[in-house]
Amino acid sequence: MPSPRTLSASWYGNRAVHQRERLAVWAREWLVFAPLARLDRPGQYVAAEIAGWPIFVVVRPDGSLAGFHNVCAHRAGPILWEGHGTCGNLVCRYHGWAYDWQGALRSARDFGDADGDIDPETHGLTPVRVEAWRNLIWINLDAAAPDLHTSLGSLDDQCREFPMEQFGYTHQVVRTLACNWKTYADNYLEGYHIPLLHPELNREIDVSRYQVLVYPEDDYCLHTAPARDGSANAGRWLFRFPNTALNVYRTGMNVERIFPDGPDRTLVVYDYFFADADDPANADTLKVSEVTLDQDQAICEAVQRNLDAGIYRTGPLSPRHEAAVGWFQDRLRRAVTAVEGEA
Ligand code: FES
Ligand SMILES: [Fe+2]
Repeated sequence: MPSPRTLSASWYGNRAVHQRERLAVWAREWLVFAPLARLDRPGQYVAAEIAGWPIFVVVRPDGSLAGFHNVCAHRAGPILWEGHGTCGNLVCRYHGWAYDWQGALRSARDFGDADGDIDPETHGLTPVRVEAWRNLIWINLDAAAPDLHTSLGSLDDQCREFPMEQFGYTHQVVRTLACNWKTYADNYLEGYHIPLLHPELNREIDVSRYQVLVYPEDDYCLHTAPARDGSANAGRWLFRFPNTALNVYRTGMNVERIFPDGPDRTLVVYDYFFADADDPANADTLKVSEVTLDQDQAICEAVQRNLDAGIYRTGPLSPRHEAAVGWFQDRLRRAVTAVEGEA
């Protein structure tokens, strides 16, 4: 049987493809938005852009979560500046229109005679779905998507044995890469490159037994590799379509999210959690993570330059090592094609 082929190079960096992906993928999937630790008290908010969609999630005074597009109904101003913190109300930063905690327009500040003509029903904030799972807050822009728990399927079981709620959230690291987001995602999805690019990691794990198992019905894959010293791999490295790696261990976890910042730049966002925030071993974990990211950034940016050069179109995927790359690319291609079919 011939090897499956990669997505065409024309998908990596093209503005029209990026726009189609925004509608087909980013506006439809459940996405990790923030650690629960940043959204567990009334008034706390997180405002961030997800693939060009400015979103905020806030904890209402009654403790429930609300999510909205961060776009005012007047002239598209932001309700909250990007970042996280605490707010006492939802007032647009541009001209001061005020919204209630359900997103309905409460007042159009000093608007003048036509004030009464503005229908609060049609001038509210556009809602976004929000759900909590374990120690993470997820969002979905699609009102018709299945609920989060149904969408996660057996991924939930994969994480059950880890006491995620007991891990303390420590910090976030954000890195900008000069490549399309899929260049980085493809790279995450195979261990084929480890002996060449990650000598430190290669010394720790037995790459000859590196495996990536795909669970297509639940939209994720699982990486496993035994340690060279014979100790069992006590963690789980999970990647959920389209962009989230959950790396979970007994001693903590990190969540790595991959976002497009336009067609030719990628934001990699790491959130770190530890069972014991004072454990000196945490510094090693962070160092390994940083070095690995340096190595992956260098290769992804080089690959992107080569994809842009115009000499490469597609190539074969290794059945032994790159099945998850094939799954991811096929899943993406089907999503984008389905939306084109609806148009
Ligand atoms: S844009 Fe929000 S009040 Fe004008
Ligand atoms: Fe890597």
